[in-house]
Amino acid sequence: MQVTNTIEKTRELVNNWKKEGKTIGLVPTMGYLHEGHASLIRRCREENDIVVVSDFVNPTQFGPNEDLEAYPRDFDRDSALCESIGADLIFCPSPVEMYHDPHAFVSIDTLSDTLCGKTRPIHFKGVCTVVSKLFNIVKPDRAYFGQKDAQQLAIIRKMVLDLNFDIQIVGCPIVREEDGLAKSSRNTYLSCEERKAALCLSKAVKKGQELIRNGITASEVLEPMCEIINSEPLARIDYVSMVDALSMQPVDSVNADVLVAMAVYIGKTRLIDNFSYEV
Ligand code: PAJ
Repeated sequence: MQVTNTIEKTRELVNNWKKEGKTIGLVPTMGYLHEGHASLIRRCREENDIVVVSDFVNPTQFGPNEDLEAYPRDFDRDSALCESIGADLIFCPSPVEMYHDPHAFVSIDTLSDTLCGKTRPIHFKGVCTVVSKLFNIVKPDRAYFGQKDAQQLAIIRKMVLDLNFDIQIVGCPIVREEDGLAKSSRNTYLSCEERKAALCLSKAVKKGQELIRNGITASEVLEPMCEIINSEPLARIDYVSMVDALSMQPVDSVNADVLVAMAVYIGKTRLIDNFSYEV
């Protein structure tokens, strides 16, 4: 497995692989890898000749009061995990390598004004910008994203469609801890007590999955979910919403494919979870 820090060296490797006719899969990450990331890398390994993992805590997707500085990092562990799965390259650039000032941005505004986009107004602009750059640097045939960040996945799909990136986007299921908590690099912020409290997210997801059916109103699904979360003293709801699966706009009832998504603060840590329902 190789490690690159520069765009130039990465391009050189990629161009050689392309010349040899190899297919390339990309798994974009911000590092501090866990089983959720690993599932994407394994799927990528199965479906491509070459597996590239990017490991970059992207500053442009963090708001001024968010956890950019505190975001956990452990490159040695990440690199060992990637190697064990059989990745060919980790691209691990510095912020200066990726950005100069002033810098162009990519924004898919229509899908970015609800759910996480409402609380994190610049977040998806930063995500679309860095993912576009990674697409242009790595030139993958396929790129792998988790359903855990369902709005991000929907936005990337829309970006690829609207901007004609010739890349297949592969969505992968949410990987959970044994007790149901969705795996996340941010789970490391949780104290012991908060870790227990965080179970209210996956419990609410389970409740929503039990209730949802064609024709049911959004509030009939969302209210019992909110009750579960509100009964946990350490939890504070940012949002619990039902949106159309493609437009990410709120719906009143289930008549088309929907996403039911939530963001909940457990103490100071903001966690997300969701489920999709196809009619
Ligand atoms: P990061 O949070 O590191 O996640 C990288 C990828 O792993 C994302 O596609 C995310 O949805 C997926 N993932 C995280 N936890 C998962 C879980 N429990 N189950 C399944 N997949 C999971 O998302 C980002 O980084 C960044 O926004 C990025 C796309 C890299 C752009 O900077």
